[in-house]
Amino acid sequence: MTSIKAFAPATVANVCCGFDILGFAVDHPGDEVRITLRKDELIQLVSITGDGGKLPREAMKNTASVAVASFLRSLGLNQGVDIELNKNLPLGSGMGSSAASGVAALVAINELMGNPLTREQLVPHAMEAERVACGSAHADNVAPSLLGGFVLVRDYSPLDVIRIDATEKMYCTLVHPHLELKTEDSRKVLRQSISLKDTITQSGNIAGLMIGLMKPDYALIGRSLKDVIAEPIRAAFIPGFDKMRTVALESGALGFGISGSGPTVFALSESRPIATRAGEAIQQEFERRELIADVYVSKINQRGAYITERT
Ligand code: HSE
Repeated sequence: MTSIKAFAPATVANVCCGFDILGFAVDHPGDEVRITLRKDELIQLVSITGDGGKLPREAMKNTASVAVASFLRSLGLNQGVDIELNKNLPLGSGMGSSAASGVAALVAINELMGNPLTREQLVPHAMEAERVACGSAHADNVAPSLLGGFVLVRDYSPLDVIRIDATEKMYCTLVHPHLELKTEDSRKVLRQSISLKDTITQSGNIAGLMIGLMKPDYALIGRSLKDVIAEPIRAAFIPGFDKMRTVALESGALGFGISGSGPTVFALSESRPIATRAGEAIQQEFERRELIADVYVSKINQRGAYITERT
């Protein structure tokens, strides 16, 4: 094998109460990366499609090539590669776009090299790429994109990631308004310290969400999908956010929140019809505010990134 293509799914980081420590993957959309072995030692980003020319073309500014370089360096491999990136995920959307490119590239290079690393061992290399993309090496997008399901990042030092199977019944609605919000910018606005009261509320909700997912207990999941840390500040960037929560819950969704650092919003529901209804209702609210928005309804992805082509 000299060339491998891999797909990595979009992700919802934070999931309301799990700021920087919880995320899940959806089945679609996602990014695709093809990696082809070279005869020399160069790491070349040969093409990017689907980004409208917006991403930097320098290899060391793109998450796919940064992740591959980190992987090869850590294993002491001097292998050169050509990287082709097909972006399906919108940039600055809060759907884990930068993470998906890095993860697809890692899954492809790992396979080409004979899978020397486990999926868990790939997480730090994908985090390194996130640092380049948005100035912060958070794992709540890359870990679920690699592992599938819901992933709790219990600790960063040392890294401790725990995967939880999602229930078969659960559907995610993503509604992406055509606005761009850089993660770096939406992190800068956050408070650097939080009150004891907010810490207690957030801890109760994250514990409730974990238990709700594991049982599963849908009512408990719904009660726990609340965020008192990032959402109260970031909601200001999303026109009509509070009204969207109301219409999503009225449609029967279990909960509603900001996907990652936004501006995409998400809802979790117990069935596809509810998830579709919630998506339409949220989309209408964006349209009322003269914003075009795309709706994606998907099951929770259970397997993470995967190989799509071997040649
Ligand atoms: N946890 C990160 C944040 C996710 O909210 O800033 C970014 O997608």
